[in-house]
Amino acid sequence: MKNPQNKHFKILIIHGPNLNMLGHRDKAQYGTLTLDKLNKKIRCTATDLDMDVSIYQYNSEEKIIQTLHRQRKVCDAVIINPAAFTHYSYAIRDAIELIPIPVVEVHLSNIYERENFRKISVIKDVCIHQIYGKKEQSYIEALFFLRDYLIK
Ligand code: DQA
Repeated sequence: MKNPQNKHFKILIIHGPNLNMLGHRDKAQYGTLTLDKLNKKIRCTATDLDMDVSIYQYNSEEKIIQTLHRQRKVCDAVIINPAAFTHYSYAIRDAIELIPIPVVEVHLSNIYERENFRKISVIKDVCIHQIYGKKEQSYIEALFFLRDYLIK
């Protein structure tokens, strides 16, 4: 099913710190794709689903927060992989909580089957959905999830 109402949803995608190094990070956890290749895959799926994506990668908490603030009135939803910030950034949690659009948390790896510090997501409760452990498919699944969520 495409998008029966023919709405062109705008999705903000944010990759957090160190995700610019995909392809050089632990392939068993994060897969083999570079960030460029991952973004190409995301854009291809978005085109198939009639969605627009704006994709950003930041290594700093400040830029992630600023982008959430600035895009909150422009985009229909957010897909965010806050990377290590997932586990301790109450500032990103607060930014997600204050924006009026739905946010999906994604992770390439299965954060629940790794070190204890990764098992905690301080943003989970302010997101509408969490997808993890599917490598690049986590992002693809998030696009499908949001397409279904937004057309309801
Ligand atoms: C990650 C998991 C985090 O624990 C880690 O710090 C990352 C990536 C993931 O996509 O699996 O950088 O968010």
